[in-house]
Amino acid sequence: MLIPFPFAYLFGAVCLDAAATLANRPRWYSTARHMRALGIGSALVAAVPGIIDYFLAVPPNSSASSRATWHGAANLSAVTLMSAVAASRRDDTPPRSWEMAAQVAAAGLMSMAGYLGGTLVYRNQIGVDHRHADAGQWQEQYLPPANDEEVDAGTSADLAVNQMRLLHVGDRRVVVARTEDGVVAFDDRCTHRGGPLSDGTLACGVVQCPWHGSQFDVRSGRVASGPAEQPIGVHHVREEHGRLYLRLASS
Ligand code: FES
Repeated sequence: MLIPFPFAYLFGAVCLDAAATLANRPRWYSTARHMRALGIGSALVAAVPGIIDYFLAVPPNSSASSRATWHGAANLSAVTLMSAVAASRRDDTPPRSWEMAAQVAAAGLMSMAGYLGGTLVYRNQIGVDHRHADAGQWQEQYLPPANDEEVDAGTSADLAVNQMRLLHVGDRRVVVARTEDGVVAFDDRCTHRGGPLSDGTLACGVVQCPWHGSQFDVRSGRVASGPAEQPIGVHHVREEHGRLYLRLASS
């Protein structure tokens, strides 16, 4: 929701500087200067939720994480170029050639970052709240790191058939789920491009990745349908006295 502001202001500043020169309207340079300042300010505000998503919502070791890195780097470079122009521009005089070139380059970088940002939302589903789509992830739990020991993975009664629980065990992401044949545990990372399987759907013992639709048998980890080619990691989980106990396979 915040992105249109820096995009419109900074693009507007480039266009106004160019239009002022072409139409010989020096007062437009002043409007461009104000738009540049508003664009830089609103870009810094829009960066805050972006940084939060980068560290908390983007799955590690995934295509989304490299895409998000390029997205952030392109935006940061564009704002840096625009800030350099803002610091050097003088009122009511045409932009020097390097100032115009820097602004055009910043507009190109912002366009690239915008495309990557759209792909992060529409393809990688970063920032999409899956609860309203009735997707599998319904609960998230943080546990301390486990070596070879069993860890208590919470109550089992509220895990219905085809529901998944995302566990952060130290720095590992593991899904505990119930199928028609009992409870299972498997890695949250799709072997295709790192999609979060806990955001996918589980049915008949098969989980489907939300990013490109790879399917995995959650008991054995084998690929039921591509594009993934490698199986996912599976772990041992048991149910006793209404609780789940998880033992991680070595990574
Ligand atoms: S990341 Fe492509 S199918 Fe899972």
